[in-house]
Amino acid sequence: MDDAVNKGKLDGRVAILTGAGGGLGAEAARVLAAHGAHVAIVDIDGDAARRVAAGIEAQGGQVLALQCDISSEAEVSAMVEAVVARFGRVDVLHNNAAILSVEQRRRDRDVVNMDVEAWDRAMAVNLRGAMLCSKYAIREMLKHGRGSVIFVTSGLGVQGDLSLTAYAASKAALIMLARSVAAQYGKQGIRSNALQIGLAPAENAHESMPAPLLEILRENHLTPELGTPRQIADVVAFLASDESAFVTGTTLVADGGFGSHTPSLVAMKALFAQTGAKGM
Ligand SMILES: NC(=O)c1ccc[n+]([C@@H]2O[C@H](COP(=O)([O-])OP(=O)(O)OC[C@H]3O[C@@H](n4cnc5c(N)ncnc54)[C@H](O)[C@@H]3O)[C@@H](O)[C@H]2O)c1
Repeated sequence: MDDAVNKGKLDGRVAILTGAGGGLGAEAARVLAAHGAHVAIVDIDGDAARRVAAGIEAQGGQVLALQCDISSEAEVSAMVEAVVARFGRVDVLHNNAAILSVEQRRRDRDVVNMDVEAWDRAMAVNLRGAMLCSKYAIREMLKHGRGSVIFVTSGLGVQGDLSLTAYAASKAALIMLARSVAAQYGKQGIRSNALQIGLAPAENAHESMPAPLLEILRENHLTPELGTPRQIADVVAFLASDESAFVTGTTLVADGGFGSHTPSLVAMKALFAQTGAKGM
């Protein structure tokens, strides 16, 4: 959290953030708390959730850490109940959790070589988990006629790639789920959007990615650098707050232009650099 945050736009709002025990979700929790939200840090890794919560508490934030496997309906129902018991209501649901472990990535391959268990796990966490959290959180939002639901998606949800087939299909489905929720509860004050993210690695993720791979990805973003968790968290805060009151049923793209240039752009630039051609 830094002083540049425009404090107060989420004063007293209650936000549930899934997968907030680390990475982008943890940063979103810190930024929402800095804007005045009461935040529930939900993660399958309870210790990680408690660590993030302790950091926010130390800054004076109102926070609750909850261990929950979002693919389980019983656990999700109990999680939302615990949030309401502590904070009284739910205003924001940030559906951020996804299964991205090394083991899962290794097994979620191209279609011919797909490990079906990995496919099912990706769908259970990324897609069913987001639906379940929405099911129980929206019930609470409807009681107060206000709410914002955010579904985290990815460039892989709209563009074909060589691997991570289940992840990509689950992320594509989340774009539709955001629209269904917007259509179903918009008149009752609930907004719902997908947030499509480019590469915004947490510090430790930088280290785990091979440098040549990072360089290819950096070249394919139109911004000078890859994204940061803070840049994504600022967009989450926008979607969570009334600043986005007229934004619903859409996909907000925060990807540094990763999805907006011609597929040949990077190869063209390399060719021009090689031949000394001017004009690009
Ligand atoms: N970081 C990026 O550059 C990037 C790019 C595009 C999209 N995304 C999306 O952003 C979101 C966050 O990504 P990240 O990079 O911070 O990943 P991450 O792996 O650091 O965080 C995901 C969190 O989800 C939790 N989780 C996994 N399974 C769970 C379950 N069953 N129940 C509850 N929690 C569970 C993990 O414990 C972890 O804390 C994901 O939805 C991801 O697809 C990230």
